[in-house]
Amino acid sequence: MPFIDTHNHIIPYVDDGAEDWDMALSMLRDAEADGIVQVVATPHVLSDSDLNEEKKYITRFDELKKRAEDAGIQVKLHLGSELYIQPYYDFKRRMATLAQNGRYFLIEFPMSMIPGSIEARFFELFPTKYTPIIAHPERNGSIINKPSKVRYFVDNGALLQVTAGSLLGVFGNQVKATAEQLMNTNVVHIIASDAHDLDRRALKLGKAYDYVCKKWGPDRADMLFYANPQKVLNGEDINIGEPFDFIEPQFQHQSSSILNKVRTFFKR
Ligand SMILES: [Fe+2]
Repeated sequence: MPFIDTHNHIIPYVDDGAEDWDMALSMLRDAEADGIVQVVATPHVLSDSDLNEEKKYITRFDELKKRAEDAGIQVKLHLGSELYIQPYYDFKRRMATLAQNGRYFLIEFPMSMIPGSIEARFFELFPTKYTPIIAHPERNGSIINKPSKVRYFVDNGALLQVTAGSLLGVFGNQVKATAEQLMNTNVVHIIASDAHDLDRRALKLGKAYDYVCKKWGPDRADMLFYANPQKVLNGEDINIGEPFDFIEPQFQHQSSSILNKVRTFFKR
């Protein structure tokens, strides 16, 4: 089964992903060996001013493409970005939507929480013709504490993209449990690597694909690792299906438990 990866930090010298050209090419070789046939590079973009300087990213991306071709790597490369949630982005920029599909863009929240002001106005922040794909909701503290929070986003048309490693326990048990809860509730639309390096966060999807196949069946796996990502690249509609009811987990996100421990300590 071929895979399409729609989230990774493979362009060197622009963010905390690949450290140099060697690493970037090794990541691509890993991807090719793993069955990934297309990759959308999604460097971190923190604000609209980063997007205004997209030339810097495009130059590096073009060089990566050239180096990959020279090295005989067959993976097809596209450019996109991972936008950090901000009140304004210029969606006419080349990097704003994934592979210039003109519709779907990748957006991330702060890791620990979703700011209340953002949550309330989320869908007012973007022109309606653009569809947000929320990166790694299962790694967000507020969503770990209350996974049903994602219903607001999904019910209003956003897509959810889970990180492959989350399902394999790379980010710990709570993130894994949250990712599985989202899968069981039928609100996961895409799975991607969010690769940053050659080890813990490699550009590989095969292991997670096998896990999803075993637990949720091959049809679901093919949809999440190939069919839906392909639709994103084409700017086509994605049939998201009906979400099931949530059963909230009984644990608290780690950062709040640590905070509670500190509070208890000082109360003593
Ligand atoms: Fe990322």
